Amino acid sequence: MTAGAAEVLTNERSLAYLAPLTRIFVGAAIQMPALLEAYRTGGGVGWAQYGADARESQADMNRPWYEGALPSALASVPEVDDLLRTPDAVIADIGCGGAWSTIALARAYPNARLHGYDIDTATVELAKTNVRAQPDVAERITITESDAAGIAEDSCTAAFAFECVHDMPAPVEVLAAVRRSLKPGGALIVMDEAVDDEFSAPGSDIERLMYGFSLTVCLPDGMNHTPSAGTGTVMRPSTLRGYAEAAGFGTMDILPIEDFGFWRFYRLTV
Ligand SMILES: C[S@@+](CC[C@H](N)C(=O)[O-])C[C@H]1O[C@@H](n2cnc3c(N)ncnc32)[C@H](O)[C@@H]1O
Repeated sequence: MTAGAAEVLTNERSLAYLAPLTRIFVGAAIQMPALLEAYRTGGGVGWAQYGADARESQADMNRPWYEGALPSALASVPEVDDLLRTPDAVIADIGCGGAWSTIALARAYPNARLHGYDIDTATVELAKTNVRAQPDVAERITITESDAAGIAEDSCTAAFAFECVHDMPAPVEVLAAVRRSLKPGGALIVMDEAVDDEFSAPGSDIERLMYGFSLTVCLPDGMNHTPSAGTGTVMRPSTLRGYAEAAGFGTMDILPIEDFGFWRFYRLTV
């Protein structure tokens, strides 16, 4: 194997690590009969149904970015970094998945307490296992199985939503709850796909990849509930802005964080 191939296929800490992608393809392929039924009926296929292949693929794909790139990306935006360094900061990580983002935030901000929330039982077990294996930060992190729409009012200095708003059947309801959870001066940072501002054909490579994920995983997941916003992976900035306004946020800006894989960072403030 060449060094380049070895990095992509075996180096779990490399930003070039892509091996886990194979598992989400397998998870989706196994669900093909259910997906075809969903396409025919307008129904959905829930995240839990995709099983460990999707859940662990998601966590393993994003882990190197959270561990290797997130701290410096956040440090490069002084207003965000200062907020997260607030003494006794409480930081929520909604839709925390395997909690690698929560763990990375706890390491980057040693005075903060972190609360990860996820609605999926098996994902919460994975997150708790991952957190327990990090003795340097575990005691500052709690993981709760909960719909993020249930987050307590006036409880957070800041909140994060990493690659999950586009999956939510009720994104406005969740964003409104997060807005109410923020203490004065707080902010919600949303990391989601860096898709184009508008649909165009032929789409860029990122658009094509994200529509692939959307049709096979994220949109069916969101459509597994009724009613559903039916957002899907290709959540354009204007779509998020509409959700943010409907949820009562006063501003949404795009953070100057470039070259962060497939993602873009938004800051929502009251
Ligand atoms: C695509 S995964 C992203 C996980 C993680 N943030 C990451 O970046 O690896 C989306 C996650 O959001 C969770 N989720 C979806 N809707 C939610 C809700 N209303 N409240 C809490 N978690 C939710 C799912 O269970 C899933 O673990």
